[in-house]
Amino acid sequence: MSQESEKPDKIAVVCLGNICRSPLAEGLLRARAEAAGLALRLDSVGIGRWHLGQPPDPRAVDVAARHGIDISGLRARQIDSHDYRRFDLLLCADRGIRSEVLRRRPADAGAEVALLLDWAGLAREGDVPDPYHGEERDFEEVFDLLARAADAIVARLIRAC
Ligand code: 4NP
Repeated sequence: MSQESEKPDKIAVVCLGNICRSPLAEGLLRARAEAAGLALRLDSVGIGRWHLGQPPDPRAVDVAARHGIDISGLRARQIDSHDYRRFDLLLCADRGIRSEVLRRRPADAGAEVALLLDWAGLAREGDVPDPYHGEERDFEEVFDLLARAADAIVARLIRAC
C-alpha cells in the first residue's frame, strides 16, 4: 500500500531494544485485530542491537501473559532498509525513535513513519514511556497505554475499510 495510506495493513512497531514496548504493542495489535476479524501483517523491531535474537524482557512477557497475550515467541531484531518497503506504516514508540527511524530512512522508502500514540489519536499522551529501567508497575502502565492505543488503531483501520 502507498505512502500515507488511509488503510495500511502491513504495520511494524519500533522501539529502542525490541524487547519491551514494541513486542507488547505487536502482541496487543495482533490480539485486537484477530478479535475484530481484521487481517494485518504485523511485526516489531528495535533501532538498537543489544538484544538481537532475544525474546522479550521477562517483565513484558509476564504482563502480557497476565492479560492473556503470549509474546514469548517473539525475537528481537533491528530495523533494516527493507522494513521501509516491506511495511506501509512504521509506528514509533517515542520521538527519539521517530527521529532515528527518519534519519535512517532510505530514499526510496514507501512506509509512513509516525508516532504510535499520534496515529492512535492519543497524541496528548505523548510518548510511550520506556519501562526498561522501571518496575513491574511500569510495565503494567505501559501495557494499559498500549492496549488503549491498539484498540484505537484497530478501530481506525476498521473505519477506513
Ligand atoms: P524497549 O526498552 O525499547 O521498549 O525495548 C529497552 C530495552 C533495552 C534497552 C533500552 C530500552 N537497553 O538499553 O538495552
